[in-house]
Amino acid sequence: MNARTIRTNARPPISAPLLAWYDRHHRRLPWRIGPADARAGRRADPYRVWLSEIMLQQTTVQAVKPYFEAFTERWPTVEALAAAPADDIMKAWAGLGYYSRARNLKKCAETVAQAHGGRFPDDVEGLKALPGIGDYTAAAIAAIAFARPAAVVDGNVERVMTRLAAIPTPLPAAKPAIRAMVQDLLPASRPGDFAQATMDLGATICTPKRPACPLCPISEGCAAFRAGTQDEFPVKAPKAVKPVRQGAAFVAENRHGAVLLRKRAEKGLLGGMSEPPTSAWTARVDGAAGTGAAPFAADWRAAGTVTHVFTHFELRLTVYHARADFEAPAGAWWSARADLAGEALPTVMKKAIETAIPGATRKPAAAGRPNRHKE
Ligand code: ADE
Repeated sequence: MNARTIRTNARPPISAPLLAWYDRHHRRLPWRIGPADARAGRRADPYRVWLSEIMLQQTTVQAVKPYFEAFTERWPTVEALAAAPADDIMKAWAGLGYYSRARNLKKCAETVAQAHGGRFPDDVEGLKALPGIGDYTAAAIAAIAFARPAAVVDGNVERVMTRLAAIPTPLPAAKPAIRAMVQDLLPASRPGDFAQATMDLGATICTPKRPACPLCPISEGCAAFRAGTQDEFPVKAPKAVKPVRQGAAFVAENRHGAVLLRKRAEKGLLGGMSEPPTSAWTARVDGAAGTGAAPFAADWRAAGTVTHVFTHFELRLTVYHARADFEAPAGAWWSARADLAGEALPTVMKKAIETAIPGATRKPAAAGRPNRHKE
């Protein structure tokens, strides 16, 4: 099926019932303004929309919230973020993943602050010219912060649209057809709310498994629902098996409980982040990926293994632990136990340290604030 077939055959008028549903059931999220404000012509702060969209490319709404709150409390404006030391941003980003995005965050903030007088460009083309902003993010900011009629297509929206029109083409080949469909369905007003309503519908009702079709405001026009085939969409191309790489991580602990860390090269995977020394990551366990690659001789003991799935490969790290006491060599440092939680450690390296020293990377409890109430 091509984009034209979908346009002509499947045009359920969804925007009115979808927006009415959003008015009542939208998720209250810290980067949003409410629909009543949007209807009154107010707009969300482009800085907050941009920051949230970059963070949401990594992980779920629930996981993003505390990061978003911490970033905006510390750096409330794009100028403040532009002026922040890159290391502070990397540390605050640690745990979100895809660290090149954190580097681009600062570059983008600097460009907006210096070349655009602190104001984000207000259309898709201008936004796309900024570092780290691609098609999706440009469309999302343009629609949500500037009320531009841009087609915003993320995974949730793909699921809603492929079900609505029962699109048989597998993803990712169906993407152009989906984009054309969204563009076609966009209402003349409230394009930002339309985008967020489709996302919320995908997150709360049109879910990947067991969608709640009886509660759906647009089920009447949904081709998959009518045929009872909602579980069959989106059709996905079979996943390629990821290659496996192996390596070793060496967690050295001194007599004070500090852990030896070093900084990874700025360029490349996990660039600029911190780690315990690791071997090369290779397709086989050989001299380059085993204890032969330890940074210094010590009584290295295997503590366990850590598996982490990156975009293009799966990494299996054997973790070794040893006690050691010497001056940290150039480019490395002993990170005191109380400082570990604040280091720019990617998740895989946190897992490695935790495997060797359980609890070591947990944030120390804030003094004087007993955590009695679970929210
Ligand atoms: N996922 C990406 N952007 C989002 C947004 N603005 N609201 C909810 N979920 C999202």
